[in-house]
Amino acid sequence: MSLLQHLSTTISSSSSAFLAHSNFNSRTKNVSLQAKRNSIFKCVAAVPKESQTAYKTNVSRNGNLAKLQAGYLFPEIGRRRAAHLLKYPDAQVISLGIGDTTEPIPEVITSAMRKRSQELSTLEGYSGYGAEQGEKSLRAAIASTFYTNLGIEDNDIFVSDGAKCDISRLQVVFGADVTMAVQDPSYPAYVDSSVIMGQTGQFQKDVQKFESIEYMKCTPENGFFPDLSGVARTDIIFFCSPNNPTGAAATREQLTQLVKFAKDNGSIIVYDSAYAMYMSEDNPRSIFEIPGAKEVAIETSSFSKYAGFTGVRLGWTVVPKELLFSDGFPVAKDFSRIVCTCFNGASNIAQAGGLACLSPEGFKAMHEVIGFYKENTDIIVETFNSLGFNVYGGKNAPYVWVHFPGRSSWDVFSEILEKTHVVTTPGSGFGPAGEGFVRVSAFGHRSNILEACKRFKQLYK
Ligand SMILES: Cc1ncc(COP(=O)(O)O)c(C=O)c1O
Repeated sequence: MSLLQHLSTTISSSSSAFLAHSNFNSRTKNVSLQAKRNSIFKCVAAVPKESQTAYKTNVSRNGNLAKLQAGYLFPEIGRRRAAHLLKYPDAQVISLGIGDTTEPIPEVITSAMRKRSQELSTLEGYSGYGAEQGEKSLRAAIASTFYTNLGIEDNDIFVSDGAKCDISRLQVVFGADVTMAVQDPSYPAYVDSSVIMGQTGQFQKDVQKFESIEYMKCTPENGFFPDLSGVARTDIIFFCSPNNPTGAAATREQLTQLVKFAKDNGSIIVYDSAYAMYMSEDNPRSIFEIPGAKEVAIETSSFSKYAGFTGVRLGWTVVPKELLFSDGFPVAKDFSRIVCTCFNGASNIAQAGGLACLSPEGFKAMHEVIGFYKENTDIIVETFNSLGFNVYGGKNAPYVWVHFPGRSSWDVFSEILEKTHVVTTPGSGFGPAGEGFVRVSAFGHRSNILEACKRFKQLYK
């Protein structure tokens, strides 16, 4: 057995033992204890010790992957959580870190998936590969639900297995020779996929940035919107609103500035609206609400955080036919080519679920689940406010961005984990401008949110 397998087995069996133990303890009710077994110990960039003596092939490692730092943020948090469980096997660990949904998918949605899956067992109902771009009915429902009167048509929409997967597929479309900008802090998939594609230089430890990426600082000082007058031109601009991790949502004026900036520079915006349905304030829910955006923007979104589809896997990307490369070739045609080559269409069962999400009853049910998480957000915001912290986000996104001035995010993460057994996410994991912040996710059972807030109050009173 390799060391890796050994470590995984040790952690798995120890967390199972912990689970078995916890079943005797009524206080653990509603507290999710199971360590995520997948993804632990994956994504590590350094050569593992045991492979230094093992047989080696003659294939060189992809140098771009070697540029990545330690590991993808969330597996690293999973690793620390697992280590914490080994240290404190009786701890009632609460995860408000990774941002995974916890509440059941409404019955109106799962019953549609059940029906589609049962139909697959009949001669009449069986279907195999579908259109790579998604089923026509779902593309039409997405267009009419999320892009009403915005001039987005069914065939501008590409249904997928999630926004993260589409971010990588878009990077394959762009290739290695483009330059890119990201909000700092931002969802790590933009930077990591850019590094993997070979768009960047090495990681510069002194500034905690990759060479050739333009980091657009988003902090309380600039209202979490970059000062575009100081941003260098890049080919691609990743922009997420409402933002993960800061929770900030850009206003109409700000997005108008962004679209103008892209147009003046001949850049393409990849706009991530995965949290648009969480918006309370009257900010645009789609970049296509901004006049002229169809000529400079792509939008990616997801059912993950709307309908609890993080495991079901369903998302979409809008590539308007008006968006052209410098030679006049439509970006949508290249995206379609990549989708046909690297993907084979979203699961037909998931697509039936997506269609149900967009029925009147499904849409109402989705809003109810989102409303539940928004109440969780209010509880977390109120807790940190009452403790005297400066708290951002929360209003338009299920994330609360808490400021610990002058402190290292990983230190605060470790302090909170050590003293309260609550997993959060260190802000610096999202980019250097996240240093000094911690992100608290509102995805959790209500009892866990209340318990975590009680522990925060004990720690920081
Ligand atoms: C901003 C953002 N975009 C995309 C994703 C990934 O979504 P999906 O589950 O559809 O891949 C996430 C998930 O946390 C996210 O926060």
